[in-house]
Amino acid sequence: MKKLDEFDFDTVLDRRQTDSSKWNSAEVLAENLLPLSVADMDFAVPAAVTQALVNRTAMPVYGYEFQSQALKDAIMAWHDQRHDFEIRTDWIVFTPGVVNGLAISILAFTERGDRIVIQPPVYPPFFGVVTENTRRLLINPLHYEAVSLRYTMDLNSLEKLFREKKPRLMFLCNPHNPVGRVWTQEELSLLGGLCEKYEVLLISDDIHADLVFPGHRYHPVLGISKAVKNNAIQLMSPGKSFNIPGLRFSYALIADRALRDRFSAVLSALALTKTNIMAKVAAQAAYRDGAQWLDRVLEYIRENYLLLETTLARELPWAKVIPPEGTFLAWVDFNASGFDHRQLSYILRTQARLMLYEGPAFGDAGRGFMRINLACPRGTLQAAAKRLVRAIAQAREHPPGFIEILDRPSKSCKCCG
Ligand SMILES: Cc1ncc(COP(=O)(O)O)c(C=O)c1O
Repeated sequence: MKKLDEFDFDTVLDRRQTDSSKWNSAEVLAENLLPLSVADMDFAVPAAVTQALVNRTAMPVYGYEFQSQALKDAIMAWHDQRHDFEIRTDWIVFTPGVVNGLAISILAFTERGDRIVIQPPVYPPFFGVVTENTRRLLINPLHYEAVSLRYTMDLNSLEKLFREKKPRLMFLCNPHNPVGRVWTQEELSLLGGLCEKYEVLLISDDIHADLVFPGHRYHPVLGISKAVKNNAIQLMSPGKSFNIPGLRFSYALIADRALRDRFSAVLSALALTKTNIMAKVAAQAAYRDGAQWLDRVLEYIRENYLLLETTLARELPWAKVIPPEGTFLAWVDFNASGFDHRQLSYILRTQARLMLYEGPAFGDAGRGFMRINLACPRGTLQAAAKRLVRAIAQAREHPPGFIEILDRPSKSCKCCG
């Protein structure tokens, strides 16, 4: 492959040469779809990351290794420099993945049947990790303000749930996938106060922490106040920030000693403490030398968002792109399309030949929405936007016969059927 300029995000890399979950899934291949679905980027990683991995292969022994102090220093320096957030070495507990961190928190701090609060629309594994571990979901939907296109937490209903249903844990997503909110200091402080008052442990999934657009700022819950710091766990990873989620590297930040000991005990009981040596090489290089790449990729993603937003405003003015404050995901409201979700989904799949992430996978409030991954070359997004606009515009102009087919119950639709 020809050597790429590190900041060339326009060149299309053929990910079909790999077992990419996004590009080589059975559905994408069988139906020849253009995928803007799974939340990874279609961009090459920072040059320093590739170089560090290549350097490591010069020593072709891949035996067991531990997490060095240099790795922990790189993590601490990153949080200090990027987020003005000082952490201590002993707060860091390595985990294989962020969702593993959610599962470990469930096992460490709850019993079978206990209740856990989530705020949909939210990343689908927030549902599954609770129910698959035989705990019960308590749903506190985000409030959607359809005029301002902004989502907020409904803290009144949350307090009522805390008081009446006595959950043990609350899962926060900060920044929030899929709605793109980067929660403010004030919102987190109110939330943290409620968690403390009702003795609900706050588990914050901050995998998108580094992906924040100008004008917004990521606030780590551990930095909100002393009380919140001792009643919270932050789950972190460089996976999304530097496009290395397939390497599997993440860590929890736990300031409170007792919480940390319980969390670590479960990790140990599940024999999940060993490290992936390539992942730690990549993570260390990314944290040490990846800041400029991240700034540039964020600019590029922001321009992609503007392209999608202006295209839809011009061509399908009733469709609304929720302005993201962070993440590389666009959450698009198609509820005014005149089609129900199943019809919309059918049009996008069979007419536009697009694979988007279906809104209902994020909870009932996602009906009529699609999540579109903006971390792709501009040409890919342009092609996808064109297909989307054409297919929906045509379907609205000539309500097609195939819509009737959908009136029959379908078993094939994953989200609705
Ligand atoms: C909010 C959120 N948490 C966790 C993950 C996955 O994390 P991991 O692969 O480290 O389990 C994702 C991936 O899309 C995500 O968006």
